[in-house]
Amino acid sequence: MTDRKVFFDSLTKSIDEVLKSKKNRDDKLKTVCRLLKENVPHYNWVGFYLVDKKKQNELVLGPFEGEPTEHVRIAFGKGICGQAAKLEKTFLIQDVSKETNYLSCSANVKSEIVVPIFKNRRIAGELDIDSHALSPFTKEDKTFLKKIAEMTSELF
Ligand code: SME
Repeated sequence: MTDRKVFFDSLTKSIDEVLKSKKNRDDKLKTVCRLLKENVPHYNWVGFYLVDKKKQNELVLGPFEGEPTEHVRIAFGKGICGQAAKLEKTFLIQDVSKETNYLSCSANVKSEIVVPIFKNRRIAGELDIDSHALSPFTKEDKTFLKKIAEMTSELF
């Protein structure tokens, strides 16, 4: 097992405790963002987007940790988040400067991973992480974040 896997396994346990706690939904999601951002050096902005229940084809920013972003609503298909929502697929972008359909939040951001969150087999939201490092994400990050997305799906 790699060190990163061991570390992610222990972080998964802490996140599981938060999700089992009596906090309200937004507090739980915000705490998950904080735990991810504080414990993983290459996670510099961590946030949840929620599918707008009325419009269904738009994402709304939910709890997050990091610099405020102007992208509080994102149409399906727009940027990495919108593409991930439309195609219902994880997007792992190791170098955002190579992307043509990308919404920039800050010039410091070099890479991004967006993992869809499904509820009753339909997309309900996503977990979005920006990094200030180039190519920082490994397959362990992807597996770990898919697991966290799955664990939070009951809150959507
Ligand atoms: N970069 C994203 C926009 C959201 S921010 O990362 C917080 C995108 O291209 O969809």
